Amino acid sequence: MIASENTPLAALPLPPKPTGLPFLRSSLQFARGPIDFFVSMYQTYGPAFSLQAFDFNLTVMLGAKANRAILIEHADKLSAREGYSLLLGVMDDALLVSDGAHHARQRRLIQPAFHSRRIESYFEIMREVTLRQMATWRDGDVIDIYAEARRMTLEIVVRALLGVDIRDQLDTMADTITHTFDYVTQPASRKLFKIDLPFHPYGRSLRARRQLDEMLYGLIRDKRQQLSQKNIASDDVLSWLIEATDDDSETGDGTRLSDSSIRDQVLLLIYAGHDTSTCSIAWALQLLAQHPDVAARLYAEQTQVLNGRALLMPDLKAMPYLDSVVDEVLRLYPAVWIGMRGVTQDFVFDGKRIPAGSKVMYSPGASHRLPEVFKNPADFDPERFSATNKLKIPPFAYVPFGGGARTCIGMTFAQVELRVMLTELMAHFNFELVSNRRVPMHYNPTLAPAHGAIKLRVRKR
Ligand code: HEM
Repeated sequence: MIASENTPLAALPLPPKPTGLPFLRSSLQFARGPIDFFVSMYQTYGPAFSLQAFDFNLTVMLGAKANRAILIEHADKLSAREGYSLLLGVMDDALLVSDGAHHARQRRLIQPAFHSRRIESYFEIMREVTLRQMATWRDGDVIDIYAEARRMTLEIVVRALLGVDIRDQLDTMADTITHTFDYVTQPASRKLFKIDLPFHPYGRSLRARRQLDEMLYGLIRDKRQQLSQKNIASDDVLSWLIEATDDDSETGDGTRLSDSSIRDQVLLLIYAGHDTSTCSIAWALQLLAQHPDVAARLYAEQTQVLNGRALLMPDLKAMPYLDSVVDEVLRLYPAVWIGMRGVTQDFVFDGKRIPAGSKVMYSPGASHRLPEVFKNPADFDPERFSATNKLKIPPFAYVPFGGGARTCIGMTFAQVELRVMLTELMAHFNFELVSNRRVPMHYNPTLAPAHGAIKLRVRKR
């Protein structure tokens, strides 16, 4: 049936889905690598197609129009809470899993932490942490850049946003977060057997959750005590959350947020605020080690701008090639490679009815690899984002930070952090491959290197 503007909604076809042999083939392809699989499905079925297997039933929507439809046009018919329902239980009252007026109110409360003046004040923390961690490396060392970056980004986000230094707890916090999120984001079919023993993923996740909660509630307790003794001014997100009331909501009666709500928001900020940047830094350095010509050009640019002196925040504006490299890293490896929503009201996309009650997904990971938009999509080519070339990229084709009312709240934070860290790392070291083998991607939940490691040799400059 060919749909026209007057076709009643209920008469429109649903998005196509593979069945029979193609279904079996696509299940295998999916298991091998969902991003390549999504791109091949797009080429066969068009910008919206459905997938169904066991507990898994959703419509994947790809490309600039699809991203725009989900992030802007039909955002009011979509629920992130339903989309990210797997996270409920780990966090029930955080930005990512709230909708509508409640979401808007939470964003208003947290947003001031990301204003440009505050980001300037985080700049020194970002630099200092990077320099200190790098000082532990010796010429010729083989380092796991993923693990190193994780320590740096975790310390940065906790110090910058929560105003606390948890240097001695960094590794425990990072591990408990990983075990907690890795487990909950597995599909239900992999969580059928819940065995509460330390070697079983379920048991490990329970222990991780308990330990993580102890740390998070400990941070809240300490900050509340400092605030009540007027030892500190409330100048960080944690203090604002502790002191916030629901006065500005419609039913607000001036009550404070519960400790569990504060914990949920803090956990999301810590998790989203370090895991994403860790992946991005690790992939960036792997790509730079694979492309010494790009690394050399990046180094030449910073040498020319800095001329031997320390990096200052305004310098970042004078490094256009660094911008292009970061943009290209986030095209190939957008840490948040999918965004999920539950459909609360039917809507039409590409002549198909996307029914209420189903789930939809947009995917920066797959949309960034559509060959009709990004020629030779698997190639690392920062020139795509040169001042003139990037104007040719259609709006919403490139969405590493999402868009609309749910655009990543930490976008500027991350943009500055990636630039500061890369500049300092490149200024002091050259990064070399220790193996020519391709590092496979791990897709759950963020786009990380498989087995959580990227090994590189560091050479002092
Ligand atoms: C390279 C680094 C990062 C990338 C690629 C990234 C990407 C994204 C994307 C795509 C979304 C939207 C998800 C959706 O539409 O469902 C998002 C949301 C979010 N991000 Fe980031 N992010 C990064 C860094 C950060 C940082 C540094 C923070 C905090 C310090 C942060 C905090 C958040 C939060 C709280 C949300 C939820 C926003 C909402 O639902 O209103 N992110 N991020």
